[in-house]
Formats: sequence, structure tokens, C-alpha cells
Amino acid sequence: MKTIIEPFKIKSIEPVKFTTEPQREAILRKAFYNPFLIPAEDVLIDLLTDSGTSAMSAKQWAGIMDGDESYAGSKSFYRFEKTIRALTGFKHIIPTHQGRAAEKILFSVVGGKGKWIPNNTHFDTTRANVEHSGAEAIDLVCEIGKHPNLIADFKGNMDIAALKAFIDEKGAENIPLCMLTVTNNSGGGQPVSMENIRKTKRLLQKYKIPLFIDACRFAENAYFIKLREKGYSKKSVREIAREMFSYADGCTMSAKKDALANIGGFLAMNDNNIALKARNLLIVTEGFPTYGGLAGRDLEAIAQGLNEILDEDYLRYRIRSVEYLGDRFAAIGVPIVQPPGGHAIYIDAKEFLPHIPPHKYPGQAVVSEFFRIGGVRCVEIGSVMFGKYDSNTGALISPPMELVRLAIPRRVYTQSHMDYVIEVAEEVYKNRKTLRGFQIIEEAPTLRHFTAKFKRLA
Ligand SMILES: Cc1ncc(COP(=O)(O)O)c(C=O)c1O
Repeated sequence: MKTIIEPFKIKSIEPVKFTTEPQREAILRKAFYNPFLIPAEDVLIDLLTDSGTSAMSAKQWAGIMDGDESYAGSKSFYRFEKTIRALTGFKHIIPTHQGRAAEKILFSVVGGKGKWIPNNTHFDTTRANVEHSGAEAIDLVCEIGKHPNLIADFKGNMDIAALKAFIDEKGAENIPLCMLTVTNNSGGGQPVSMENIRKTKRLLQKYKIPLFIDACRFAENAYFIKLREKGYSKKSVREIAREMFSYADGCTMSAKKDALANIGGFLAMNDNNIALKARNLLIVTEGFPTYGGLAGRDLEAIAQGLNEILDEDYLRYRIRSVEYLGDRFAAIGVPIVQPPGGHAIYIDAKEFLPHIPPHKYPGQAVVSEFFRIGGVRCVEIGSVMFGKYDSNTGALISPPMELVRLAIPRRVYTQSHMDYVIEVAEEVYKNRKTLRGFQIIEEAPTLRHFTAKFKRLA
């Protein structure tokens, strides 16, 4: 059969609320046009993020009941540890309450002033935690990964030549580790090839720099390798994932993505010395090393989710459903980052609304219109999220791309939900020339996108 169906049945449902266009206009106004300020109850299809929004399976819910809440040595921890060690091969498995907590601990141990951390592209929390430690974060994604409309199989790859030049410039002794984010969220959810992971490792080995994987979407990345990289079509996704981890010395992970859990994360590594320091810090900031800021039931849900995510029927449906949405958007004429990544569709708002300059936030205009037309919530990833003011002139310095992300929660929406989103996109496309820019009327000094208030320009 050609039709790829959802590889699950629905056992428990959560109603969604329908609203009228005038109601949505009022909701938008009340939220000052910021999607983060809209009550979730008023959203029909929520594509704000794929993080922590997965639907858990019956077996995960059963695991929740089976969770051992002992403070120390809980059996749920040992199951969690065993599952992650079997998948990654790492010696030390340290639970954390989410991905950024793993980052905070890792960079508190290895970071600091005068240090540099390269990555294909740092996710915003990774960058923030590197910088918080006093170190500097540098993005070295390959050239093609910087062009939204160019098509390539592995646009998340590290630029190996640039990495070598960077190490030679800064000195290996100032680079405590190098990260690789799979898939590359900030670069459009694009995958990294096995060849690139291998070459990155080979280069780092010469300089004795450890490689850490930001593994949030490791299974989606592994499935792309299976589909696109020579020599991997007959390997299981689990084998591919294990090979990916075999080149690394450690990883950080937000279990809110490819562990199909609503909360959780972990830090894993082989180095005894870093692990000792990380656990000491964990006790101060997260909790005892056998629960690390999580309940025993969370550890159970994560362990189960990490096995379910490797189901190839699931991954085929997952990658195809994102691609389906992307293909249909492109067919309508909506410009997107090509090819569609593993977890989201990214609209190129600069090309979509050329009449709205970056300092009038074209992405915010697209986000508002998706909500106004159909109650679909998405998020701007452009000048609102990453814009900075010039300290001399006060002028806005925009990032290279003005994107709007529609992230697809795992196992939550069906094909008819996606067809509805496509219909909304058609209307947004029809209205594009009438859309107006925005002005920020209130903002916080950091991470302003979460709380900023906007005014629609005349
Ligand atoms: C690539 C990447 N790294 C790290 C994180 C941080 O994870 P968490 O939200 O669990 O702190 C995210 C979250 O979206 C991410 O996408």
C-alpha cells in the first residue's frame, strides 16, 4: 500500500476547542500578538513546539504506574540507565530534569572564560549555557546549511575545514569539547550524515578534543541516514544510532523530543573525572544521581519511549508526515526551508512577505495570520527571537534568516489535522500582500520572544 498511516490506534483523546475568526482576533489582541501569551485552551492546532508535547503510549502510562519513587537506588533508575547504556554505550548516565539542565551541568564543569565550544549550530539553550559559564559558542554548520532553498541530504553537517581552521586559531587546549546537534534544530531540523560524524571525530581525535552529541532528535537523524546515506539502507535504526553514539565521548539529551516523554533529560559520558564533577553539581542543583530532578515514573516513561522511538514504522510515518506538510506548503507557493527537516516545517518569512522588512518582524506577521485564519499556533524564529540592538546606534541587528517554525508534536495529530493546516496555509498565502508588520511595545532584556508585547502597524 502506498498510504503511510499513523502506526497506532487512539485510546484516549483530548478535545480541542473551535473558535470563530472574530474570537481569534480578540484572543490575539489580548495576547499582544505573542503566541506564547495565548492560553493553550484557545489554540486549535498547536505547532508551537515538538518539545514535551508527545502523546505517550499505553506502555509508557503503565510505566508511570510502575515508577519506583525511592529516593536512592530506585529500580526505575536502573531501567533508565540500562536502556540508555545499551543505546549509547556511555559509561556514566546522569538524569536531569530536561535538556538544558544537562547543558548547564556540562558547561559548568568544562566551560569558563577563555574557552570555546564549536557546534554545527548551537540550540539557544545550549548557547546560553555555554555563554553563562563564561565560554564562547561558535556555529560551524556547512555552507549549504545556510541557504534555505538549496536542497541537500545532510544540511546539518559540520564544516570540517572550518572546524580545523578554528581549532588551529584558538588552540586545542582552549576547546574542552565539540558538540554536534542531531538533527540541527536551529538550522531547520536538518540531519547530519554518519560520514560527517565520523570525520568530525577523526579530526577531533588528532587534537584530543572530546565529541559530545546533542542527541535530542537522534532517532530522526538515524532514520534520515538510513534513507539517504549509502550503505545504511539495510541497517536497523538502532544499529545506526549506536554507530552515531560510538563516535562520541558523551551526549546531552532532552527526553522531551526523541524519548517521547513530557519531561526529562540526561547527560552521559565516558570520562570518569567529568562525570564525578557533574554528579557533584547534580546533587546541588537537580537531585540525587539516581533521580536527578525527575520522579521515578518519569524515568520509566523515558526508558520506554527510547525503545519505542526506534520503531521504524513510527519513524517512516513521522518523517513522511513532516515531508507531506512541507511538500503541500511548497506546492501552494509558501517558501520553506528545503528539504523539510525531521520535526518541523520552517517558512522563509523574508521571501514570503518581501514588503515587510526584518525590523518590522515579517515572521510575527505570518504567525499572527496562521492563528487568525485557523487557530494554528506556530513561532517566529528570526528578528524577534534573535534580534539584538546595536549598542551605539540602537538599530536592530537581524539574524540572517526570518523563519516561522511549525513543529509537529509526536503521535498527536492525524493526517486530517495536517490537511486542515494546509488549508489554513492556502488562506494565509492568499492574504500575504495585505499582511502588515509589527512593532515591539514591551520587551524583556533577555529571551524577549517569550514575553514581548506587539502592536500591529498601520
Ligand atoms: C537541539 C536542542 N538542544 C537542546 C534543547 C533543550 O532541551 P530542553 O527544552 O529539554 O531544555 C532543545 C529544546 O528544544 C533542542 O531542540
